[in-house]
This record gives sequence, C-alpha cells and structure tokens, in this order.
Amino acid sequence: MTDTVLIAYKTYAGSTGEVAEWIASVLREEGIPVEVRPLREVRDVRPYRAVVLGAPMRRFRWEPEVVKFLKKHREALGRIPVAYFTVSLTMQEDTEDRRRLVESWMKPARAIVPPVRVGLFAGRMDYSKLSPIDRFIIRNLMKIPEGDYRDWDAIRAWSRELAGVLKERS
Ligand SMILES: Cc1cc2nc3c(=O)[nH]c(=O)nc-3n(C[C@H](O)[C@H](O)[C@H](O)COP(=O)(O)O)c2cc1C
Repeated sequence: MTDTVLIAYKTYAGSTGEVAEWIASVLREEGIPVEVRPLREVRDVRPYRAVVLGAPMRRFRWEPEVVKFLKKHREALGRIPVAYFTVSLTMQEDTEDRRRLVESWMKPARAIVPPVRVGLFAGRMDYSKLSPIDRFIIRNLMKIPEGDYRDWDAIRAWSRELAGVLKERS
C-alpha cells in the first residue's frame, strides 16, 4: 500500500470528471498525494490508502457501474476509508428534502461499502455534451434548461473536511 488516495469517477458529459479534479487539487493542497482515474481504468484498489468514488445521478439512480465496482472490490474497499460524491441537478437547491432524495438513490452503494463521507453536489446541464438521444429527451421532452450549478467553494469545503478525516486515519 502507498500513501496515495485514489479518486475514481464516472462521467458522461464531463462535469463529474472536473469535480473529481477539483477535489484532487484540494487534497493535494492539504498534502495528500492523489491519483485521479476514470472508474473503467481501475483494476485494483489495493495500492491505495483510501478511495473516493464519484458519479452523476441519472434517471433517479446512482451510476450502476459504481455499484458493480463496489461489489467487485468489496473486500479490499472494506479495509480502507471510502468516500462517495455525486453530482446531480436535484442538488441545484440544497434543502433537507433534496438531500434525502439524492441519498436514497445512493442506498444500494452504501449497503455494499459504508462511506466515511458523502458529498452531494449540484451539477451541470450542457446540451452540447449529451448524446443525441439524451439531448432529445432532456431538451425536447423533459425541457430541462442548460446551466452550470457547480458550487466550487462548497466542493472545496467538503474536500478539506475529507482531508481531515483521511489524515486522522493515517
Ligand atoms: C440522461 C440524464 C439523466 C439525468 N437524470 C438525473 C436524475 O435522475 N436526477 C438528477 O438530479 N439529475 C439528473 N441528471 C443531471 C445530471 O446528474 C447532471 O447533469 C450531471 O452534472 C451530469 O454529470 P456528467 O457531466 O459527469 O455526466 C441527468 C442528466 C442526464 C443527461
């Protein structure tokens, strides 16, 4: 095992990947070595002292690839601190009800590996980054407007708190 923390993410339209990089930069400022990787590239979690998993909410559930990953690496992840973050449009407004709703979508993941921290962040809607089918559904049927709702200060605050938790456990 090394001192490195892995941040593994799934993204479709890029916004979760940018949040992963932002979290990494804050952890590095706090003196923690970090590797950022797309989830599909991660074969083994045993070299890492902690893992942060991030993915967007889509169609009222958390990314199934994350759940598959957790099942596959359950044993190794059970021995180290694991944190989750998610990006969604529901979190455009940070209310108790919305937090509860988004957290309910993360239940399958929590049941596999209980996290030390969970970050619930607002995301981005950018039609130009969607597949043609998603663009049609989102723009023409659901009529969800474009916008970037990511709150970089809130993500920084969460990342600093996470750094504190990880330092306590080293
Ligand atoms: C097809 C699709 C389905 C989505 N479903 C949800 C949803 O169920 N709940 C929600 O809060 N946001 C939903 N969103 C918003 C995304 O979570 C948000 O756009 C996020 O920033 C996308 O992350 P990405 O850029 O990393 O792909 C959806 C977006 C798309 C394109």
